[in-house]
Amino acid sequence: MGEIASNKLLNTDALELFRLRFLSRNGLVQNLFGRLKEVEPEARKEMGQLLNGLKTSAEEAFATAKTRLESAKENSGTLGGIDLTLPGLPGALGSRHVLSLVQEQMLAVFRQIGFAVADGPEIEDDWHNFTALNFPPNHPARDMQDTFFVSRSGTEGDVVLRTHTSPVQIRVMQERQPPIRSLMPGRVYRNEAISARAHCLFHQIEGLYIDKGVSFVDLKETLYYFVRTFFGPGTEMRFRPSFFPFTEPSAEIDISCQICHGSGCNICKHTGWVEIGGSGMVHPNVLRNAGIDPDTYTGFAFGMGVERTAMLKYQIRDLRLFTENDVRFLRQFAAV
Ligand code: PHE
Repeated sequence: MGEIASNKLLNTDALELFRLRFLSRNGLVQNLFGRLKEVEPEARKEMGQLLNGLKTSAEEAFATAKTRLESAKENSGTLGGIDLTLPGLPGALGSRHVLSLVQEQMLAVFRQIGFAVADGPEIEDDWHNFTALNFPPNHPARDMQDTFFVSRSGTEGDVVLRTHTSPVQIRVMQERQPPIRSLMPGRVYRNEAISARAHCLFHQIEGLYIDKGVSFVDLKETLYYFVRTFFGPGTEMRFRPSFFPFTEPSAEIDISCQICHGSGCNICKHTGWVEIGGSGMVHPNVLRNAGIDPDTYTGFAFGMGVERTAMLKYQIRDLRLFTENDVRFLRQFAAV
């Protein structure tokens, strides 16, 4: 006599029919026991054992099906009949934004040589964004062309969306004395027409190193180290004399174009060189404005564009892609 399959009993009606048919007082099993006397006396013992086996097996099938149906009923009460044993649908995984990734990669290079990260507000006052950084009162950078002014009664012309991360230099210097080795990443705003090469908001990483005896050699070596670690040892680099009110001397940092490698493209304007940021020795007036004695300490600062760096690293030719949120673009960096 084979096993009785309890999994054929799919609902309580089927279960009850099963019970009436096999296990009730007038059911088939009991009926068979009643007919035991018809069996030859010498075969009666064996037949009795077989019938007992049949009875146990039917009772077990009944009990198993009953337990299963009861627990299914319980689940359907609380979970709306959801079958928790079904495999789930995989959720779509997002990815980090390419600018966050590149910013993190840039910071990691400087962390290796002892720079720590600091933070400052995106809404700044004129003093931190311009005055303390040695901008003369009528410097063109304060002009409406470049700066977004935040209007709030009583503060006209005084509150701005920071135009660079350099005001965080001032905040860091005001907070503590040298030695200072700080990196200040963040978003900056300029009133520019949006194009493939310019945007009204972008990201910079500011660097500041102040201690006794810091010279232009330290500035150059630090930036060489960054460029060669980040872009690869073969990357060419040059410093171009420049002007910033808050550094003296000042230099722009160019690297060999990573997109066309010198053959000429729209990113390097067919020169083979791309500017990745500005740099220079911190102006003594700036140290003084922030409470650091320029006779004891010297330092260098630099500011680099995160978008520009990302474009060069991943051969992205249009700045607008960073803010359009097209998942076909964003997804490409999921595995980076
Ligand atoms: N703040 C400058 C800019 O936005 C870059 C810079 C930073 C230059 C630090 C020199 C030193 O263009």
